[in-house]
Amino acid sequence: MSKRFYITTAIDYVNGQPHLGHAYEKIIADVIARARRSLGQEVFFLTGLDEHGQKVQQAAQAEKKNPQEYCDALAADWLAFAKKLELTNDDFVRTTQPRHKEFVQTTLSKLNDSGHFYKATYTGFYSAKEETFLTEKDRLPDGKFDASYGDVVELKEDNYYFKLGAHQQWLIDYIEANPDFISPSYRRNEVLGFLKNNTLEDLCISRPLARLNWGIPLPFDKDFVTYVWFDALVNYTSIAHAHETLGLWPADIHVIGKDIVKFHAVYWPIMLKAMGLPLPKQILVHGWWQKDGAKISKSTGNIIDPIAVINEWGLDAFRFYVLRELDVGPDGNWTDAGFRARYQAELGNGLGNLVNRSLSMLKRYRNGIVPVRSNELAADADKAADETRALFKQSQLQAALQSIWTLVNRANKYVDETAPFKLAKDPAQAQRLDEVLYNLAESCRVLAVLLNPFLPGTSAKIYAQLGLTGAPDKLADASWGGLPAGHTIGEPAPLFPRKDEK
Ligand code: ME8
Ligand code: MG
Repeated sequence: MSKRFYITTAIDYVNGQPHLGHAYEKIIADVIARARRSLGQEVFFLTGLDEHGQKVQQAAQAEKKNPQEYCDALAADWLAFAKKLELTNDDFVRTTQPRHKEFVQTTLSKLNDSGHFYKATYTGFYSAKEETFLTEKDRLPDGKFDASYGDVVELKEDNYYFKLGAHQQWLIDYIEANPDFISPSYRRNEVLGFLKNNTLEDLCISRPLARLNWGIPLPFDKDFVTYVWFDALVNYTSIAHAHETLGLWPADIHVIGKDIVKFHAVYWPIMLKAMGLPLPKQILVHGWWQKDGAKISKSTGNIIDPIAVINEWGLDAFRFYVLRELDVGPDGNWTDAGFRARYQAELGNGLGNLVNRSLSMLKRYRNGIVPVRSNELAADADKAADETRALFKQSQLQAALQSIWTLVNRANKYVDETAPFKLAKDPAQAQRLDEVLYNLAESCRVLAVLLNPFLPGTSAKIYAQLGLTGAPDKLADASWGGLPAGHTIGEPAPLFPRKDEK
């Protein structure tokens, strides 16, 4: 029995409502989790919330709430959001949970006991917005700090530091020896470039209680709380530990955005090394969405509300657009026109039309009874299934959708070429019509199986319309010939209704 496949997302700060970027990342992880289950693997999928730190404390203060009440209220919205996206997560971590806090403290005590920390005085600059210290090097040519850091204040304070420098060469060697550790490769090259051209500064892992109280107390010094990033990264192991009997660690994939690569590909591996734990197999880095070519921003109103899109177009249309439009890696640009175009062309006229006309014709011409097996599209279907299987194993989601759509397009072309509506008029063509109807219905069944990780609702509807019980959730079932002759299908109904007909 192979080890359970353990996949995680970044845990989101609870200082506002979820947006497109958060939704995108969680859908990537959900599709990979479902794909792995479809491949027959046991999976553990973790997502959750990052609740400590100055950012959250300030957001709570702005609403005149105590931080825990503030987090509890927002956590309900984020949990509802995970449901809305139909995420198949196996757990949902909140870093304020005792199971997490206790594990962080145990981790801190062990590292402190084994001499990885020291105390020192820091003088310099601090960005609360990004929860990070800045140096003169971080100034822009005009002497200011980038606006993304928010208000930058000057500080002088005592803190605890984690000795990172000692591990720098080890990490370079590790990344070079494990080409898949950071994906895509251009992110890996960036990390290697950074490590080879800079001396790692030690990581400040505490904040003085006098400045910040919303954090996990340092177990060895009551005047300090834990730096929020140290706390947050440990979630991947604290929750693995909470499910100790499953043997989850090391994680197979951490899905994260491009802005937090340094934390995951530099600090986290060194923390794990110091803890004596194996490293995750892969850090999978996605890009950032813009809308209409500009940064998504609440203050300028340039936003997409994923919940509104889902309510209007359906969850599967949303999941499809973000994964078909944007490969995992580069940045993407959301446009409403692009969304509508893909909905209409690929979902409506492509997949929806194929399933609807295939099943409607089978109903009309053969009373919904599946004819004897025919293999005319078998090679096309097998090719799409083989490619999809290989691409799932590489988390190549956009490419998998492209491959699946070669079958959608082939089958639609097959309808045009064979013209079953003409065959139906000629009694001498009855056998030919049987063949065509079988190839179309079976292609729809295979598509339901291949699409299941991406479009779980649509996939289930296709199976139901085919009159099949059971779930289309095992890739092994994609092999050609699953529809038995004599089987009666269910009721066809449009999968992606045209919006202009409303
Ligand atoms: O960074 N497009 O939380 P966060 C795509 N708590 N992805 C985006 C995005 C966009 N426009 N905006 C944000 C944190 N993201 C920490 C993580 S993990 C131990 C701690 C992604 O709420 C971002 O890249 O600021 C990150 O992966 C995730 O959303 C959470 O961002
Ligand atoms: Mg952020």
